[in-house]
Amino acid sequence: MRLSHVSHQFDGHLVLNDIELHVSPGECVAIVGPSGSGKSTLLYILGLLRKPDQGAFFMDERDVFELDEEELRLLRLHEVGFVFQQAHLIPYLTVLEQLELIQEKRKIDAKQLLTNLGLGHRLHQLPTTLSGGEKQRVAVARALVNSPQLILADEPTASLDYENGRRVMELLAEQAHEEGRRVVVITHDERMLDVCDRVLRVIDGTLTEVNKEERHHEDRFDAIDK
Ligand SMILES: Nc1ncnc2c1ncn2[C@@H]1O[C@H](COP(=O)(O)OP(=O)(O)OP(=O)(O)O)[C@@H](O)[C@H]1O
Ligand SMILES: [Mg+2]
Repeated sequence: MRLSHVSHQFDGHLVLNDIELHVSPGECVAIVGPSGSGKSTLLYILGLLRKPDQGAFFMDERDVFELDEEELRLLRLHEVGFVFQQAHLIPYLTVLEQLELIQEKRKIDAKQLLTNLGLGHRLHQLPTTLSGGEKQRVAVARALVNSPQLILADEPTASLDYENGRRVMELLAEQAHEEGRRVVVITHDERMLDVCDRVLRVIDGTLTEVNKEERHHEDRFDAIDK
């Protein structure tokens, strides 16, 4: 999966400038960077929710930006799983029903998936009866229910305490390391970066690899900027 020469501007301001990004199966990539640097924009492009002004996005050898709306809709449903900062569960559906609502084919057992994420005893409860960490794990399960090849998460731990946030990050990384999926996660929490294989920083529209020695410094910088 590869973004090639991707550029995007909003109101004359170049947010992403000639971005190259390759994510391999089994890889968990963290994206960091100051507020407003374009992290979410990059994630929406990867999630096929935004088409950039320029560039290509190769998934299985074809440039998906060349596809028509219906083909894109199907790719989004089958190949991409999204987790946001808030769980965004539907208040009147039980935990199990949240998954069944969007499950396309019965490729995987939703009950088993929820059980694997530590929610086996919560299947028939409504979101109002769950803790923040449990809600976010339901959101992760929902992102996985159609077995997507690409999992994207935009600050999925921001509304959680450290322990629950850590658990969610580990679940995401496991999807890469044990299931061979591609995971891209935006985070501001430097304590979460060690579960990822690579850390990339968005700044001034470009993407640079942060090496492990630099990580601590980079994230402090990031926190001050925010
Ligand atoms: N739909 C839009 N229309 C106009 N400008 C936008 C739009 N979406 C984002 N922007 C602008 O593009 C820039 C990057 O926004 P983006 O949401 O990608 O940043 P971010 O790195 O995710 O920030 P944060 O850490 O605060 O979430 C910002 O200057 C923002 O105001
Ligand atoms: Mg953002």
